[in-house]
Amino acid sequence: MSVLKETLPLSSVDPGDRDALRAWYTSSRAAFLEAAPTEADLDERSKAIAAHRLTAVRDGERVVATLRTFDSELTMPGAGPVNVDAVSTATVLATHRRRGLLTRMLRADLERARLAGHAFATLIAAEAPIYGRFGFGAATRATSLAIDNTRVRFRDDAPAASGSLEFVTGALDEAALVHDAARRSRPGGLHRDAAFWEAANRRGAGRWIGTHGHAVLHRDERGTADGYVVYELRDESVGRVVTGTTTVLDLTATTPAAYRALWEFVTSIDLVRTTRAKDRPVDELLPHLLLDPRAVQTGPVDDFAWLRVLDVPGALAARRYLGCGTLVLKVVDPLGLADATVSLHVAPQRCGADGWVCAEITTTDATPDVVLGVGELSSLVLGGTSAVALHRAGRLDCSTADAFALQTLFATPEAPWCPTWF
Ligand SMILES: CC(C)(COP(=O)(O)OP(=O)(O)OC[C@H]1O[C@@H](n2cnc3c(N)ncnc32)[C@H](O)[C@@H]1OP(=O)(O)O)[C@@H](O)C(=O)NCCC(=O)NCCS
Repeated sequence: MSVLKETLPLSSVDPGDRDALRAWYTSSRAAFLEAAPTEADLDERSKAIAAHRLTAVRDGERVVATLRTFDSELTMPGAGPVNVDAVSTATVLATHRRRGLLTRMLRADLERARLAGHAFATLIAAEAPIYGRFGFGAATRATSLAIDNTRVRFRDDAPAASGSLEFVTGALDEAALVHDAARRSRPGGLHRDAAFWEAANRRGAGRWIGTHGHAVLHRDERGTADGYVVYELRDESVGRVVTGTTTVLDLTATTPAAYRALWEFVTSIDLVRTTRAKDRPVDELLPHLLLDPRAVQTGPVDDFAWLRVLDVPGALAARRYLGCGTLVLKVVDPLGLADATVSLHVAPQRCGADGWVCAEITTTDATPDVVLGVGELSSLVLGGTSAVALHRAGRLDCSTADAFALQTLFATPEAPWCPTWF
């Protein structure tokens, strides 16, 4: 048995080096309880992650720990996308767990990202207890829907379904454009690169016959794509009783009319009684459009994207605000990367035409109104977590009035939503 495993060095892996990539993926897949990659998997992944940063820890010939990170964009409240360090494929083999390998890989990457000028890192946590100690906080949440199609009736005052629907039989290029427009306007939206859509295209073979990978595009009256749905069908009939299920994998629209048309379409497919959907926003519009909102059963709600503030002034300046006021925040970082005391000043006269306000952020040595961990700030910054709830949970050191003030400043009109796995 080799000694001092925790000093095994970190090294980078070239995604173009086939043998190194195979060893790297074999290890990461084992940690995720998956089979080793096939040559076809490696063909696909080597293209998809060509520009990503891959870290490996080797013990002799074997890769025992992996980390993959890449630059992406995440949409901030009222301010559009900012560059973020996206973190993925964090794995350590069972033989080497709990010896600090994840800690070393992650710390090295967060330090690099901070020096590269990123104000945030982001990831999707396999298990919720892992990442708080590294300064991450759950920032977006997502839920599932189960819809009883037989009870779906749209209200008369719901946005009228206009335009047209068509099956997509080629590449999902127009759906990608719709997604890109939508993700830029809602906090939490994440960039999907060409590799994401290539993988979606591959999964969607046979898009209008059979059960898998259907994609339908909505066009407005001028013929411009403004919404799409990707779904699968399953026939679960018992005897002659029809009980098919539709599973919505992805549904995005840039207008309420397209949104209504797509949900009306997908909940009214003949021979199907139930529609399920995953990774949906917690403030889904659909129940508000229906005469019987209980046709849509919602839950469970779980965290989705986690954020990690790397630069407190940069992170607070990256978004805009709807309230006004001044608070001095003292942010404490368990890794010592982003400790700061800042004055967050949002003045009404700086109000933009759309109501969103740019804040003035200055570092200060004034007495803080709120003392909080960097993970708590990371949870709050997209507006998806209640400062009042964190205060009641004992995670913000401040007065009740200042927790209210923080909540008012950070609130967003729509819940942040990230439906993109990475
Ligand atoms: C999660 C994983 C990467 C952790 O790697 P690791 O090298 O064992 O982690 P570390 O030794 O650096 O752990 C640091 C701390 O986090 C804790 N921790 C690590 N994984 C944890 C988990 N799954 N649940 C709770 N705590 C965890 C450790 O106990 C340790 O705590 P301590 O400092 O109080 O002793 C590894 O267990 C793994 O590969 N799991 C399966 C794949 C997976 O879930 N990956 C995460 C993808 S998002």
